[in-house]
Amino acid sequence: MTAATPPVPLGAAIRHEWLLDWSKLTVNHGAYGAAPKVVLDAQESWRRRMEEQPSLFMRLTLPPALRKAADSLGRFIGADGRDLVFVDNATSGCNAVLRSLDFAPGDEVLVLSHAYGAVRNTVRYLAQRHGLKIVEATISFPQPDADEIVAAVGAALSERTRIAVLDHVTSASALVMPIARLVALCRAAGVPVLVDGAHAPALVDLDVRALDADWYVGNCHKWLMAPKGCAFLWTRPEHQAAIHPLTISHGFGRGYIEEFDWTGTRDPSAFLAVEAALAFHETLGGAALRARNNALAEGGADILATALGTEIGAGSALSAAMRLVRLPVPGPASPDRALAARRQLEIRGCDAPVSAIGDGLWLRLSAQAYNEEADYEQLAAFVQAFLAEDIV
Ligand SMILES: Cc1ncc(COP(=O)(O)O)c(C=O)c1O
Repeated sequence: MTAATPPVPLGAAIRHEWLLDWSKLTVNHGAYGAAPKVVLDAQESWRRRMEEQPSLFMRLTLPPALRKAADSLGRFIGADGRDLVFVDNATSGCNAVLRSLDFAPGDEVLVLSHAYGAVRNTVRYLAQRHGLKIVEATISFPQPDADEIVAAVGAALSERTRIAVLDHVTSASALVMPIARLVALCRAAGVPVLVDGAHAPALVDLDVRALDADWYVGNCHKWLMAPKGCAFLWTRPEHQAAIHPLTISHGFGRGYIEEFDWTGTRDPSAFLAVEAALAFHETLGGAALRARNNALAEGGADILATALGTEIGAGSALSAAMRLVRLPVPGPASPDRALAARRQLEIRGCDAPVSAIGDGLWLRLSAQAYNEEADYEQLAAFVQAFLAEDIV
């Protein structure tokens, strides 16, 4: 099946929609997203409504507006709005779940070897407090294989596994996990699953209800291009009474939604602007945009790997609009060398994460609506320039 073509011209033709500084090369959408002007305008108009009459806004306007935003987001991710609450970011969503659970000494927490560092730290914190054991399922890289990942998670499960924390899309390695198979495997073993889907909304097709995990956390400020500080937590109805926000406030004891919808005075405009972000994503093609970005990332990675004479980290079955390309540097890889390579990009007005994975240094590139093939040719020229100077 061929993917539909996005309905509007993309690449350089649409750059006016963002505040991005186009004298710089932007190929790292995955890191912090980039909200378009129309979404920032919607956020600003919510802020103005709030400041026109803060007290009435907080008491009367905000509660239904948050629920309406949750319902709209739910329609996009395949979830019932009643199971969705807004949180500031994926890190705090994962913290809210993990820090609400009861643990007994000796309980095990399953994580992937490519787990996001901040969420892994949350698990480490809990392990120190409660005497837990962290069990890692090892993902091989490069050229990971879905069956091997499923087998690695299966082998890491035990009778003591209290929870599995599974990244939907891994951060440094940008792998799209065979998440439906992993969730089914864990739940069949009686192990609850928290999916850290920080990257997933608007990067991959998402149907949270069908995935049937216990908790799902996702960022709207990355690929959906909501303002920063807009993320969600989905919780199965039977767990909702036991899950609390990190900040306990007036809603305590009044149920999941009241607890999360009010955690003290704050600026809720990023949450409320999610509807503008959903509309913008659809204007650019929705599923067709996601398919186009995926294909562009694949083409961009080809351009870079060909220019450098190296390889791409993973095939299309486990990838979306982010790819890893190996840098052609001899000798052992180290975080310091990865940082030195990234620094060289920064000097040239570009940013892309570079990670030491196994014996190699790997650069992660992203493709979003405003990117086009020429961006990856420019990226290849930057990388070749600093490699020629033998700096890394
Ligand atoms: C898998 C994963 N989890 C969590 C996060 C953290 O997201 P945030 O900084 O929005 O909390 C990221 C960020 O890239 C991520 O890739």
